[in-house]
Amino acid sequence: MNPRLFPDRKISVAFSLLALIGGALVIFTFLGDGTTKLVCSGSFDNFQSRDAPMQLRAILHYATSKTVPQQSLAEINISFNVLKSISPCNFLVFGLGHDSLMWATFNPGGVTLFLEEDPKWVHTVLKDAPDLKAAHVKYRTQLSQADELMRTYRSEPECSPAKSYIRGNTRCKLALTGLPDAVYDREWDMIMIDAPRGYFAEAPGRMGAIYSAAVMARNRRKGGVTHVFLHDVDRKVEKAYAEEFLCRKNLKDGSGRLWHFEIPPAGNVTDGKGDVSFC
Ligand SMILES: *[C@@H]1O[C@H](CO)[C@@H](O)[C@H](O)[C@H]1NC(C)=O
Ligand SMILES: *[C@@H]1O[C@H](CO)[C@@H](O)[C@H](O)[C@H]1NC(C)=O
Repeated sequence: MNPRLFPDRKISVAFSLLALIGGALVIFTFLGDGTTKLVCSGSFDNFQSRDAPMQLRAILHYATSKTVPQQSLAEINISFNVLKSISPCNFLVFGLGHDSLMWATFNPGGVTLFLEEDPKWVHTVLKDAPDLKAAHVKYRTQLSQADELMRTYRSEPECSPAKSYIRGNTRCKLALTGLPDAVYDREWDMIMIDAPRGYFAEAPGRMGAIYSAAVMARNRRKGGVTHVFLHDVDRKVEKAYAEEFLCRKNLKDGSGRLWHFEIPPAGNVTDGKGDVSFC
């Protein structure tokens, strides 16, 4: 690639992103209603999909923003392909950021909920994008406890894979008990873990998010698998917790620092030993 034509990687990423969102707009609009016209329809009201305005806003946003999402195009593409096949779906995202409008746009007609540790950041983002659904979450752990939690969770019966649950499970420190009811009340078809922060000792770390995603996926009653995406798997804690709870055997694919798991309901997992481990 001629560097003078592409002076900044960000510009090419931004263009690719626009192509993805534009593609999603076309795909979802035509899938939604074969009669929908994209061109010369005179007014945005003529879009049959009620999500089209958000998709147009996303194009405007990313076309005029100097800030691009932190995930690479190859990483985003994996989730994009899955969403294309299962949307509209229930999509839970740990983390609220520059990529949020994009994720919501990729799931037209579905429910996309963002969980964020910093209440001020929730406020800031929602001011500019009021149609995103975001909630503030408090975490009970710190990254510095990751090794100890990994060592001790097996001796806490409430953490056991045989009876694992999240809501109100205060005895299992890995269970995220501080989530809004909206999270517990719904079965999530896709869970993206790209937060909370996990790069300094006092940060919450992603231990609870990974454990809770595994439990939610195992408790699924609807048919089919839960797609769990984990970012930053180059880091020690993310990797160790993924291998403990999301399991190598469920690893479907990955790219860069992203892993994609397909986790079946535990009802279908029989290891003959009565569920002594998650994997
Ligand atoms: C995204 O994934 C699809 C399906 O695997 C592939 O055909 C396409 O080339 C990918 N696009 C990019 C930009 O990586
Ligand atoms: C188990 O898997 C079968 C097919 O593989 C499926 O029909 C059934 O619904 C699954 N059971 C549960 C509890 O998910």
